[in-house]
Amino acid sequence: MLELKDVTISYKNVPTVQHFNMSMKQGQIISLVGESGSGKTTVIRAILGLLPGGGKVTAGQITLEGEDLLAYNSEKWRKLRGTDISMIFQDSGAMMNPTKKIGSVFTEYILTHEKISKKEAWNKGIMMLERMRLPAADNIMNSYPFQLSGGMRQRVGIAMGMTYQLNCYWQMNRLRHWM
Ligand SMILES: Nc1ncnc2c1ncn2[C@@H]1O[C@H](COP(=O)(O)OP(=O)(O)OP(=O)(O)O)[C@@H](O)[C@H]1O
Ligand SMILES: [Mg+2]
Repeated sequence: MLELKDVTISYKNVPTVQHFNMSMKQGQIISLVGESGSGKTTVIRAILGLLPGGGKVTAGQITLEGEDLLAYNSEKWRKLRGTDISMIFQDSGAMMNPTKKIGSVFTEYILTHEKISKKEAWNKGIMMLERMRLPAADNIMNSYPFQLSGGMRQRVGIAMGMTYQLNCYWQMNRLRHWM
């Protein structure tokens, strides 16, 4: 499904990750382990086309179901991130707007993907939170990120990330085993 072949990633032409290989089948869970600063986030960002300025894949191949991701333009990356690949950030709180309630961010996100009413988007958000076994989903929708624990924020991030994934329900059942 996902293949990285001999990938080198550089920041400002200084190679940070070199000759990285990984092959992932559908349904597989892979853990990437390494000391702080070894390049784990760099690899994941490269897969998502989200390397920060100065960061670039300088050699190798990244393919998803045979598609060459490195040939993608920013519009194709954006579509891919909304549907087939998601990232749940290490600090899910930092990516959330501290001045906006979860419900407002979540419904806004849903409304960028679907032409439905605000009320329907809100209910969909609640359903996704409940699938993540977050208690009192309505309450969470009405909370600011800082009012939730780190683990809850991360589960909100997972709920958002999973909303438009293919095989969403199947993956949810797998995730449940860990929670
Ligand atoms: N924006 C950046 N500009 C320049 N160099 C960077 C940038 N981000 C990361 N690096 C370099 O890439 C290396 C790998 O960083 P990365 O964040 O991928 O590590 P990590 O394995 O995810 O670490 P951690 O376990 O701390 O999250 C770092 O040592 C740093 O030197
Ligand atoms: Mg990291």
